[in-house]
Amino acid sequence: MGEMIGFIGLGVPSFEAHFTPCIEIGWRLAARYWNRGLATEGAAAMLRHGREELGLTDLVSFTAMPNLPSRRVMEKIGLVHDAVGDFDHPRVPEGHWLRRHVLYRTRRWEF
Ligand SMILES: CC(C)(COP(=O)(O)OP(=O)(O)OC[C@H]1O[C@@H](n2cnc3c(N)ncnc32)[C@H](O)[C@@H]1OP(=O)(O)O)[C@@H](O)C(=O)NCCC(=O)NCCS
Repeated sequence: MGEMIGFIGLGVPSFEAHFTPCIEIGWRLAARYWNRGLATEGAAAMLRHGREELGLTDLVSFTAMPNLPSRRVMEKIGLVHDAVGDFDHPRVPEGHWLRRHVLYRTRRWEF
């Protein structure tokens, strides 16, 4: 039987922010599988699925500001950083170093 190594998929954030309601692309992989291009491959497939099968024109992705690997994945699949959209995640305690989040979006004109 195959091994569960993480998830990559579309979801609806369950918290309120200036860009919700929306559909996000998210991922989390077990550390031993990092840096093999898996998140990029899976996230790109989700982007195509959202666009071609579900007809979605506007997807977001977000992560803690210091999470450079996730930001790199977002850039590699063609999302753009919406710098004025960056936000403090309401589920991360005030003052925590991971509270500030970056917001990336699809570019509508690509669809
Ligand atoms: C973020 C995560 C999913 C990335 O998955 P992955 O399969 O390793 O991603 P990829 O291999 O497709 O791409 C990773 C990119 O980040 C780069 N990277 C890795 N560590 C880095 C660092 N410390 N600083 C900058 N870039 C880094 C890699 O070089 C690669 O870019 P490249 O192809 O240009 O060389 C994985 O690290 C993870 O699950 N992290 C923990 C959970 C998490 O952060 N989830 C996301 C919450 S939004």
